[in-house]
Amino acid sequence: MNTTPHDSGTPIPAPPVAPPHPGPAGVQPLLQATNLVKTYPGAHALRGVSIGVSRGQALAIMGPSGSGKTMLLHCLAGLITPDAGTVAFQPGGGPPVQVSTLDRRERARLRRESFGFVFQQGLLMPELTAVENIAVAGMLGGMKRQVAFAAAMDWLHSLGLEAHAGKRIGQLSGGQAQRVAVARSQITSPEITFADEPTGALDSHTSHEVMSILLASTAGAGRALVVVTHDPHVAARAHHRIHVRDGLIDDGKAQGTARVDGTAHVGGAAGVDGVGGAAGVEGAA
Ligand SMILES: Nc1ncnc2c1ncn2[C@@H]1O[C@H](COP(=O)(O)OP(=O)(O)O)[C@@H](O)[C@H]1O
Ligand SMILES: [Mg+2]
Repeated sequence: MNTTPHDSGTPIPAPPVAPPHPGPAGVQPLLQATNLVKTYPGAHALRGVSIGVSRGQALAIMGPSGSGKTMLLHCLAGLITPDAGTVAFQPGGGPPVQVSTLDRRERARLRRESFGFVFQQGLLMPELTAVENIAVAGMLGGMKRQVAFAAAMDWLHSLGLEAHAGKRIGQLSGGQAQRVAVARSQITSPEITFADEPTGALDSHTSHEVMSILLASTAGAGRALVVVTHDPHVAARAHHRIHVRDGLIDDGKAQGTARVDGTAHVGGAAGVDGVGGAAGVEGAA
């Protein structure tokens, strides 16, 4: 935490929230996780992880298989409840929400309306067509049927997939299906999108295209993206990267037992931009 020199020489604490950012997207903290812990019998999935995500930013979560990346993403997104620690979400036009204390129904609603999800595969419904898969997500998010289908067609058009609108998922290539999955995640314009290895099954060219779409519709549109990836090319396109190892943010000082003091933030103490370089965090090059 920054301190400001005082006349008497006594440092006084800086205000908890940084002043507004001059950038067009603003940088109100969007999501702030503090000291997340999740334990399974025989496994410490998360051992005290704190990160913040700011509006207009893309954060890449990297790390070896089994290190806790998916667990962290699921805690951030309210898909699972941590054993300890908090996740605070600051929606655009409303009061802050403590994700970790919501009941199941409230969390489900938050996920449908404010969060978007992209996984490596499996979220699309094979019995539905491409346009139906996208439109259904819009309807679940509260859009009227006609509006949702129109928006879904707009998405397919912008992705060059309008000719495939009536095809079922199994008739699409992996890259086409993953572009549909991105459109599905974005039709409600979620404030924050969580993606777990979204390009893990794609070749590098298709992977680049899918990331471009994802970045443009999230961080590029003043919203946020949290993307788990093994792919350094994907991670390099995010604004920040953190490395998870054995359930901790790896600050590079010790293998496996790096103890992070809960200040490894992306974007500062309250998830606000401009305080890069904390433990385990790399700013954009
Ligand atoms: N449902 C579960 N039950 C027991 N252990 C789990 C469960 N989910 C994850 N784990 C354990 O938590 C650790 C982190 O898993 P995960 O977050 O999926 O890793 P990553 O996504 O980095 O590959 C692993 O040791 C894994 O075995
Ligand atoms: Mg995983």
